[in-house]
Amino acid sequence: MKVAICGTVGSGKSSLLSCILGEMKKVSGQVKVSGTKAYVPQSPWILTGDVRENILFGSTYDAVTHHQTAKACALLKDFELFSVGDRTEIGERGINMTRNSV
Ligand SMILES: Nc1ncnc2c1ncn2[C@@H]1O[C@H](COP(=O)(O)OP(=O)(O)O)[C@@H](O)[C@H]1O
Ligand SMILES: [Mg+2]
Repeated sequence: MKVAICGTVGSGKSSLLSCILGEMKKVSGQVKVSGTKAYVPQSPWILTGDVRENILFGSTYDAVTHHQTAKACALLKDFELFSVGDRTEIGERGINMTRNSV
């Protein structure tokens, strides 16, 4: 089941999720979570390194798994656009497409 929580800025969407994660003090009531939970916040960040390192995040590289992952995430086309594919370096402000298209 998928549930969408919609609301204007400041209406409490993030607060609700923080509450479910146990990161916000509840004034009243209780929260029960069964199973595991994962939270992907809105603020992305990157490691200084190449695209592959940013995908692996310390995990061991396996060519087949890496390819399947990239395909599932529709990243193969992006890799084609980079000069050296997923070995393209990412700077502090993302990938420099001008430099990479040379
Ligand atoms: N850590 C916090 N402590 C106190 N008030 C907070 C905190 N985080 C958010 N708020 C307040 O809770 C309200 C809802 O904010 P938020 O959950 O960020 O809304 P949304 O994610 O829907 O934009 C806002 O008034 C905001 O200022
Ligand atoms: Mg929010």
